[in-house]
Amino acid sequence: MIVLALGDVFGAPGLDIVREKLWSVRRHYRADICVVNGENASGLGLTSAQARTLHESGADVITLGNHTYSKKEIADFLEDNDFIIRPANYAPSAPGRGYTIYDTGKHRLCVINLSGQVFMRTGFESPFLKADEILKKLPEDIKHIVVDFHAEATSEKNALGYYLDGRVSAVFGTHTHIQTADERVLPKGTGYITDIGMTGVRESVLGSSVESCLKFFLGDPLIRIETASGQAEICGVIIELDDKTGKCVSIERMRIS
Ligand SMILES: [Fe+2]
Ligand SMILES: [Fe+2]
Repeated sequence: MIVLALGDVFGAPGLDIVREKLWSVRRHYRADICVVNGENASGLGLTSAQARTLHESGADVITLGNHTYSKKEIADFLEDNDFIIRPANYAPSAPGRGYTIYDTGKHRLCVINLSGQVFMRTGFESPFLKADEILKKLPEDIKHIVVDFHAEATSEKNALGYYLDGRVSAVFGTHTHIQTADERVLPKGTGYITDIGMTGVRESVLGSSVESCLKFFLGDPLIRIETASGQAEICGVIIELDDKTGKCVSIERMRIS
């Protein structure tokens, strides 16, 4: 099974490149299933219309993060649709679900979304214990499991990778928007990368305009951070999983302009 995962889609430029290119990228890598982090499709959060656009453009499963509820209307959409998930370790009262099982007819893949606790908003439960809880609940015949770990601290991401090594097929990080060069298969067969990067404008500060971010960092109290414009890129990973065992065969970074 080949799984393609795309990092945080940022603003209109990110959505546009996904709409224009995702089906051809999927074909190029012969991806069976595509997982896309959509938490920044509106900059902060995403609308139900944007979620539908991502889905129709080839995102079989949409994952989210700390900006899940920035557009409040998404709450009902999260309840009604099982192709979109938000971090499983939000408080139990949070709308939506934290994992889903996607079935292509030929393959079944469980996708779990978790948030880090370190340097993130308060209110998330332990991603480590939440992962245990979900894995215990899954049917035994589910061997293919990937985790989008939406987190800031590289240490927490590394630690969760090792915690789940041999128990899930892959753990990939999102949220920092900067792709890391540490992709590898961990000793017990789990694919791992600290962050898969961002799908948005390349010459930007994490997807926002360089000018507005520089004013912000220079102390301008009136500045509004704006989405960058310009050439967008797609960042992500291609993960090959053994069809029988679910172990990771290979994990490769991808960056396409
Ligand atoms: Fe985030
Ligand atoms: Fe993000």
